[in-house]
Amino acid sequence: MSQDRAEIVDLPSSSAPRGGAPRDVSKEPARPAVESRSPLGAGALIVCDNLVKIYKVADLEVVALQGLDLLIEPGEFIALVGASGSGKSTLMNILGGLDVPSAGRAVVAGHALGDMGRRERSEYRRRVIGFVWQQTARNLLRYLTARQNVELPMLLNGVGKGEREERSADLLARVGLAERGDHRPERLSGGEQQRVAIAVALANRPAVLFADEPTGELDTATAREVFDLLRGVNQELGVTIVVVTHDPLVSEQVSRTIAIRDGRTSTETLRRRAVTDAGDHHVISEEYAVLDRVGRLQLPRAHVEALGLERRVRLALEPDHISVWPDRDRSADPDDHGDQHLDHTGKPGEIV
Ligand SMILES: Nc1ncnc2c1ncn2[C@@H]1O[C@H](COP(=O)(O)OP(=O)(O)OP(=O)(O)O)[C@@H](O)[C@H]1O
Ligand SMILES: [Mg+2]
Repeated sequence: MSQDRAEIVDLPSSSAPRGGAPRDVSKEPARPAVESRSPLGAGALIVCDNLVKIYKVADLEVVALQGLDLLIEPGEFIALVGASGSGKSTLMNILGGLDVPSAGRAVVAGHALGDMGRRERSEYRRRVIGFVWQQTARNLLRYLTARQNVELPMLLNGVGKGEREERSADLLARVGLAERGDHRPERLSGGEQQRVAIAVALANRPAVLFADEPTGELDTATAREVFDLLRGVNQELGVTIVVVTHDPLVSEQVSRTIAIRDGRTSTETLRRRAVTDAGDHHVISEEYAVLDRVGRLQLPRAHVEALGLERRVRLALEPDHISVWPDRDRSADPDDHGDQHLDHTGKPGEIV
């Protein structure tokens, strides 16, 4: 789990940009929200600040989240990606109010998740968020029909019969299952069950919908349909959506993909549409490393491997970026120091 330690760069405070000529910000690429946080997370719907989760199993401690930072704005549609065991579900369980952090802060729609009592926690889960699991069987009660499943969260919240019926009909129509309301889950396909699960999750008009690999058990075509549905829900209802996925096609459709590595957010890929001078539309995709509050960032593994970086790197502040060079001080030739070694490595790695 700690094999990436050597790749974490602590930017010295002297690396912060100094004075210099004013920049034309309008010409610069979009920056991740995490860079404009002052104070931390102002206006954000979801804030994770230095989140830590340690599981204790017998005498063993598993550090599933080790200082994770995350900011999500209202209305965003976010894909969370990362290798198996990187901490995605741990994060989702904390954000979903199913588990509590060991340290750090997680706030969703004004609810501090580490401090909630049992009652606030259950209110939070019933009213503020919706949750969709990967396992279709876990999302729905098998002895209830699709319509009854959708009505259940409203029933628990004391919504009257008339409104329940109207809203469940609306939701089932929205997920394309207006005709299947009387079917129990066993008479629905996997994709249909996940559609009903999304309707259930939306029943109480949540601020955020969390989905942990909702298409993990579906074939590619069905997964695509479910994902299109989520995108429609995000755009038409304005619900913020955070979805864990391994599907590379899915992560290409969202506006922001956040990669988790070893219990930390490592990179963010932003996608935005741009129009060329000739009027052609195209999608620009840019990858950013996430900088935490004390200036740490994780270099992408591919960059580290490409330049053979290990243990320490040399940094240099340039007027508008920071360069990162491999440490070649201990090379075979004792007279050969510093920049001359850059000739052997070709292009230096660069931050920002
Ligand atoms: N309840 C638990 N008790 C002990 N260790 C746990 C528990 N849940 C998760 N872990 C450990 O925490 C780490 C993160 O697990 P997590 O389930 O969050 O990963 P993930 O990114 O969701 O992986 P996957 O893609 O396989 O679903 C792993 O090392 C895992 O073994
Ligand atoms: Mg998982």
